[in-house]
Amino acid sequence: MKFRVFALFMIVAVLFAACAPAATPAPAAPAAEAPAAAAPAATEAPAAEAPAAEAAPATSGELKLAILAPLSGPVPTFGVSTKEGALMAIDEWNAKGGVLGMKIVPIVEDSQCTPEPAVNAANKVIDQDGVHYIMGEVCSKATIPVTEIANAKGVVQVSSTSTNPSVTVTEDGTVKDFIFRACFIDPFQGKVAAKFATETLKAKTAFVMVDQSNDYVKGLAEAFTNSFTELGGEVVGTESYTGKDTDFSAILAKIAEAKPDMVYLPDYYNIVNLAMKQAKEKGITAPFMGGDGWDSSDLDLKAAEGGYYTNHYSPDSTDESVVNFVKAYGEKYKDDKGNAKVPDALAALGYDATNLIIEGIKEAGADDTAKVKDAIAAIKFKGVTGDITFDANHNPVKSATVLEVKDGKIVFNSVVAP
Ligand code: PHE
Repeated sequence: MKFRVFALFMIVAVLFAACAPAATPAPAAPAAEAPAAAAPAATEAPAAEAPAAEAAPATSGELKLAILAPLSGPVPTFGVSTKEGALMAIDEWNAKGGVLGMKIVPIVEDSQCTPEPAVNAANKVIDQDGVHYIMGEVCSKATIPVTEIANAKGVVQVSSTSTNPSVTVTEDGTVKDFIFRACFIDPFQGKVAAKFATETLKAKTAFVMVDQSNDYVKGLAEAFTNSFTELGGEVVGTESYTGKDTDFSAILAKIAEAKPDMVYLPDYYNIVNLAMKQAKEKGITAPFMGGDGWDSSDLDLKAAEGGYYTNHYSPDSTDESVVNFVKAYGEKYKDDKGNAKVPDALAALGYDATNLIIEGIKEAGADDTAKVKDAIAAIKFKGVTGDITFDANHNPVKSATVLEVKDGKIVFNSVVAP
């Protein structure tokens, strides 16, 4: 197809050159315009670099892809990063002619990291917009109810970052055929944290803080507790709060009294900011550790100083695909001051999950979700956050990175393989 367009272009160009040799600039104009029209959101670089004939692939038809992300609600940085990563992937595909000749059209919905808005958004994109593919949600507790709908309706859903096991399997352990994720799962993440606590922090006792109403927090707290105990450690206290709490003094008083070697707080950055600030005010010096939910440009680095968290990748990695991604992202997205934005794990996983869906469609050879789900289940995908192949439960087997909040900065500590 591409070749034919190119051949036609060459014939026209030769004829044109033969008839009017002095007027050579003319053919370049329409060709240069084509990609810009096909992908208005793309950065200019690919269009400018693409040779005229390459820039011509005309798309016929559209492929809608929904992005469900928490743009408002308790954790808005999660949504913004995820959306940016996903749109960057789509822009790159569209600049190359889309997928299977179709232009990819993103439909972005604010699902708020909350079950009800997420379910409403899923029903809207499936029933009203007619999407066959959903990237998202970010937060496990919002993703899980969406998977029930998507799987029942044969819509392929890939969550970028939801790490709770129940995203891809039902309670009785049955795999949800149409559902996948681009990230590792919490039993692994909790184990990495427990190993780090025992081996690196030399902790023999731990105190666990948990929001029982948040699937992610609850699951990760359990995973840590099991692994830490298996490794010979003792959990000397577990205290619950809710996601609406702002005053943690009662729990912190118990921690001050128990004097654990470390505190495990596997929640999102909004809670971490509050709880760790109050812990410092109380004079608690035991190191805090958490999970990927800490990863945010709004993590209060002063409050979180001395803390550690497990994550999906580090933008400081010297891996070639990370270096290229960080560069391209920084060129495309700027912060309020006009500085290049550094992609966090959510941006990287939003990018990977979106590419995974589109690559699956390409490999399936058709916009047919029954075929696409099989293609994804068997995919060998090279992502920014690592290579992805799926196990029987539709989970990728990937390494985790431990990051440290040190001297007001987030620094790489180590990588732990499964
Ligand atoms: N893993 C979290 C969840 O399942 C979401 C998350 C991932 C948040 C990565 C921040 C970074 O809810």
